[in-house]
Formats: sequence, structure tokens, C-alpha cells
Amino acid sequence: MGNQRREFYWGLIFVLGLAVQCNAGVTSTYRRRLEASADMPLDADVFQLFVDDNTDIPQQDAPVLGTFLGDLGQTFDSNSTLTHYNANPNAAALLYVGDFSYADNYPYHDNVRWDTWGRFTESSAAFQPWIWTFGNHELDFAPEIGESTPFKPVSYRYPTPYSASGSTEQYYYSVRRASAHIIVLASYSSYGKYTPQYSWLQSELKKVNRTVTPWLIVLMHAPWYSSYKSHYMEGETMRVQFEAWMVQYKVDVVFAGHVHAYERSHRVSNIAYNITNANCSPVSDNNAPVYITVGDGGNAEGLSTEMTQPQPSYSAFREASFGHGIFDIKNKTHALFEWHRNQDGDDVVADSLWLTNRYFNPTKDS
Ligand SMILES: [Fe+2]
Repeated sequence: MGNQRREFYWGLIFVLGLAVQCNAGVTSTYRRRLEASADMPLDADVFQLFVDDNTDIPQQDAPVLGTFLGDLGQTFDSNSTLTHYNANPNAAALLYVGDFSYADNYPYHDNVRWDTWGRFTESSAAFQPWIWTFGNHELDFAPEIGESTPFKPVSYRYPTPYSASGSTEQYYYSVRRASAHIIVLASYSSYGKYTPQYSWLQSELKKVNRTVTPWLIVLMHAPWYSSYKSHYMEGETMRVQFEAWMVQYKVDVVFAGHVHAYERSHRVSNIAYNITNANCSPVSDNNAPVYITVGDGGNAEGLSTEMTQPQPSYSAFREASFGHGIFDIKNKTHALFEWHRNQDGDDVVADSLWLTNRYFNPTKDS
């Protein structure tokens, strides 16, 4: 009995020691339902035409930059996410981080599901800009049924203003919205040195004028910092290619999707490694962005619930729930990010962070 008690205390000391040594963030203990999300039937009212020719479309210029939403799909959970977003009267733009309709999950990549998704999202997309990032579910690459041209359905349905920013491809581009310069990267276009995307990003970052657009935001689909087992390290090669630029140009925040959950990082970088020096761990870096994964729109593939353990030190908060994020720029020095999960009312915030601008006010904010 005495030995068992001693072993128990030694075990407790070991676990506590491990927790202190890891210095990790918070893994939410929130309990959520985990059954699979069900697609809404084709005759659901959300798939009916929302805007007719007589609709008076209002112009919006609210101070809130927008919502971040990804991997939406068209399930009852997707509808819950979009309904929560639409309940926010101040949101002025939606920054979408990829994976739209999931039509490629249906037999023969059923394009009817592209149609229904377009009508489903119309309750928002008809009234404010949606800034598109392209994910793996937009590839629609299916040579087995004769379709060997990637991105064909999405390229016809969702054009982007890429040429205005000097890009030569629809899938990476930039826009300026409110006081933010927003750069959209393409996880599924080539990005190695000498490629068009590499050259474009290199010149685009030099064009950013922080006195005109104080906030610099980057969107992509596959996250660079995610501690979920799903899609683990799929964004790693792009991180290796571009992360040093994010630090050099003091990007404020990077948003990604792909992983069907929520996670927020501390400000870290991992750019010191040179193959021989072994400096290959993320370190605290006040010039680095905060990385936020919001691939939690609610698609039929369900939540990504398995996390790497222990929680890595770069991870500040993670939770496997559906929801969306709001990025509210207050002025050139402060912005408030809030993550809303579906299970709560639309006014409940499950995670939040005050961000200070990396260029004008780079305090230690995370
Ligand atoms: Fe994805």
C-alpha cells in the first residue's frame, strides 16, 4: 500500500513536471456532440434562390473587417455557422479560407452541389464581398471520369480580381479592404523558388504600404501551424518557403482552414534552421504573425478531434468545435479577434485575443 502511494505521488510529480516543461497553451475541455454532420436535402429552403431582380442590395462599409470562415460545405451544421455569421450586423466582408461546396465528395463530382452551395451562401454573398481562398476540394481533378483539368468548376463560378494585383493566376492575389492589405496564397499552386506565385509574393510584399493599410493579413488553405493529427504538416513545405517573409514584413495574422477545428497560436517563428545547425524548433518571435485555423465551418466530413499530445508550446488555444471567427479592426494599432462556436448563442465568444499591430505597436500580445 505504501509503495502504491509512493508510485502515485512520483507519477503526479512527473505529470506536473511535464506540464511545466511543455509550457503549452489551453486545450479546451468543452464537450460537444461528435456525430457526423448531415448534408441538407436538395429541397431545403436554404437552397432556394435568395435574391431576385427586385432586391435592393444595401451597401456596407462597417468598421469590422470581416469574418473568417472555412470548410463550410452544406450540412445542417454549415447552416448553423452561416446563420450565426449573418446575425452579426457589423460584419462587412467574409474572408473565406477554402473548401467550398464539397461537390467532389458526391458521385461524379455532382455539380448540382456547386449550384446548391452557391444559393446557400447567397444570403451573405449577395450583400457583401467574399474574399476567396482555394482549397483541395476545389481541385475537382478526376481523370477517371475524364476531367483532367484541375479547378475547372470553381474557376468558372468564383472569379477573383487577381490581375489587379499583378498576379497571373486566379488562385493567389491581393485586395485592400478597410485598413487591411490582404494577401491570398494558393496552397495547391506551385510556390517553389522561380515559380509565378513565389515571384508574385516577393514583389507583392514590397508593395504593401502600412501607412495606407496598417494591417497585413495572409490567407491560405493548409495551415502552417496546426497541432491536430488531421492534415498534420501538410502546409510544411509552403511554411519553409515563405515563413521568413512573414516575419520580415511583420505580417499581423495568418488565417487558414483545411483542419476542421479551431486553433490559435502564439507569435512564433521557425526560420533559423539551415540544415546543419539543428535550430528547427518554433521559438517566440514578436515579429511573427499569429496563426489561426478556422476550418470549422461544418462540412459533412465532420470535426477533426484528434490532437497531437502534449499540446505544443506554440499552440495557445485549440478546440474541435464548429464556428467562425470575427476580426474587428479598431484602429491602426489594435484589433480584436473573436471565435464563436456554433453551440453557443451568436453573441457568445469562446476564444478571443486583442492583437496589436506588428508595424505600429508591436507589443507582446499573445
Ligand atoms: Fe481542405
